[in-house]
Amino acid sequence: MKGLILSGGKGTRLYPLTYTLAKQLVPLANKPVLVRVIETIRDAGVTDIGIVVGDPTADEIMHRIGNGDAFGVKLTYIKQPSPDGLAHAVKISEPFLGDDRFVMFLGDNCIEGGIHTLIRDFADSAWNSQIVLKAVENPRSYGVADLREDGSIRRLIEKPQDPPSNLALVGIYMFDSTIFEAVNAIRPSKRGEYEITDAIQWLIDHKRSVFPYVHGGWWYDTGKPIDMLEANAAVLDELRPDIAPDAEIVNSEVDKRVTIQAGARIINSTIRGPAIIGEHTVIEDSYVGPFTSIYHHVTIKNCEIERSIVLEETSISDLPARLHESLIGRKVTLTRNNTKPNAYKMNLGDNSVVRVD
Ligand code: TTP
Repeated sequence: MKGLILSGGKGTRLYPLTYTLAKQLVPLANKPVLVRVIETIRDAGVTDIGIVVGDPTADEIMHRIGNGDAFGVKLTYIKQPSPDGLAHAVKISEPFLGDDRFVMFLGDNCIEGGIHTLIRDFADSAWNSQIVLKAVENPRSYGVADLREDGSIRRLIEKPQDPPSNLALVGIYMFDSTIFEAVNAIRPSKRGEYEITDAIQWLIDHKRSVFPYVHGGWWYDTGKPIDMLEANAAVLDELRPDIAPDAEIVNSEVDKRVTIQAGARIINSTIRGPAIIGEHTVIEDSYVGPFTSIYHHVTIKNCEIERSIVLEETSISDLPARLHESLIGRKVTLTRNNTKPNAYKMNLGDNSVVRVD
């Protein structure tokens, strides 16, 4: 088996963060989503992995992730000229995939408990494809599967008004080389993309066998800020806490479910887990509440923050209210204005969202 990770795309739903940063590099519990995806595939025994990348984030991804040695895998980068859809990404990956069966994973998805069993099911089967489904409360917002009595898939319907089941399509797929017939046969959808659901429907319509695997644990697509925060919370919940030997904790209360990374300093503060404080980050006279990930080289002074993600080299100080459910990018300064006039002073990029009390 080979692996294929889709890490191109535009990331428009995560603007402004994704103007300058690939969404797959946003850390969940201080580890980029893409690294989590690579490790998930590797832990299921697949080490020959292609990563589809596109401009403008291709260079940063290749630079940060490298050739795979750091993760015990072999990575091959496949450049997608433009983000023309998931099925298009498969189509351009044919020279890498050849005749091998493969698992395809969206580079911004995160799943509980790994993918061992489903890879084993597919590897031991003669199926042409296996897709992953998850029971959801609001199937109208997803691609939904209609199943036959024998459990195989009859049809996939995008955002159905009248859903035939509550089983939504998750961003993990397994294929054999018949998928190339499908991706070469389909036409772009109304939104101008080659859709993977159309390619899978083509397989079904042409009597290829497509079977589902129903996933019982959590699964997140981190495409939107709120999903990113939810996924961060779920990953933090599973994290085994650890305090680096050189972390400094002075006059502070740090509860059992907190991870503190190398060189971090916690001074006169309270940290309630699950939470993670990154390398060389300083938390002073502050409260960090549950489900918060503070990345490396951040300074937080005289503030309260919870259920948030803060990226590297940001400085937050003297805020008059608690920061909650916030996603804050790199090198941001967030502080109180102590000079007159008593007003908000902002220097925000396109598509920023600020909510003040
Ligand atoms: P999406 O989240 O569906 O698309 P997107 O990244 O363009 O985001 P948005 O809708 O916010 O603009 O993509 C799912 C994953 O697949 C993600 O990791 C990006 C990747 N992808 C590709 O590699 N090539 C593509 O052509 C597309 C559409 C997505």
